[in-house]
Amino acid sequence: MAYRHFEAIEKNAALLGVLTAIMVSIGGLAEITPLFMRAHEVSAPAGVKPYDPLRLAGRDIYVREGCYLCHSQMIRALRAETQRYGHYSIAEESVYDRPFQWGSKRTGPDLARVGGKYSDQWHVLHMMNPRQVVPQSNMPGYPWLAKTTLDASDIQARMRGLRKLGDPYSDADIAGAADAVKDKTELDALVAYLQGLGIRNEPTAAVPSHPATDGGAP
Ligand code: HEC
Repeated sequence: MAYRHFEAIEKNAALLGVLTAIMVSIGGLAEITPLFMRAHEVSAPAGVKPYDPLRLAGRDIYVREGCYLCHSQMIRALRAETQRYGHYSIAEESVYDRPFQWGSKRTGPDLARVGGKYSDQWHVLHMMNPRQVVPQSNMPGYPWLAKTTLDASDIQARMRGLRKLGDPYSDADIAGAADAVKDKTELDALVAYLQGLGIRNEPTAAVPSHPATDGGAP
């Protein structure tokens, strides 16, 4: 009887392990493969442009400093989130984010649409020492960013790298990058990056939108 065969498998840990791994792999592939096949369908909506040199440099600082450890950039389609942060995030907004900064930890608020919420001056004060503007904040200060000047040659190499991956930078864009970041500090770049978040790409009527759900809130 077939039952006997199952018993043989269940009593042999190695065989059971191998067969389980095969089954799980098949399940995993069935879920993941279609996503890979469709990845090319995600393209930039109108208004979403590759990062300009200063914002690109700011993004690198955001990654280097590990801001993603406390901040997500992914607004979920739940009413509590859309009321607080704005339109929920859509995949197309992240086409030029390599790697994306969606994050999963929110010690601080989501930053997906923080651009334009505060003045540049607010961000400067906040980054130097958050308690200057938010007394109860437990975010660390990053005062050294104001003292470090950006490396212009580095940003051109990064743009060339991104162009290889498909970002539509022209030769002129890359040639002009050195001037765009000349004499700018890391703090200037980070503030420019933050001020661009969401503003440059908040979905408009042109983007198909789906109604936000209540997310099971009572
Ligand atoms: C240890 C956790 C932590 C880290 C690391 C951190 N933050 Fe924060 N951040 C917070 C908290 C908590 C708040 C809310 C209080 C405040 O506004 O300071 C905040 C607030 C903010 C805000 C204001 C958001 C709003 O909508 O009011 C910005 C902008 C911000 N952080 C940017 C950054 C950047 C850029 C970095 C990396 C250089 C960073 N944070 C690193 C915890 C953190």
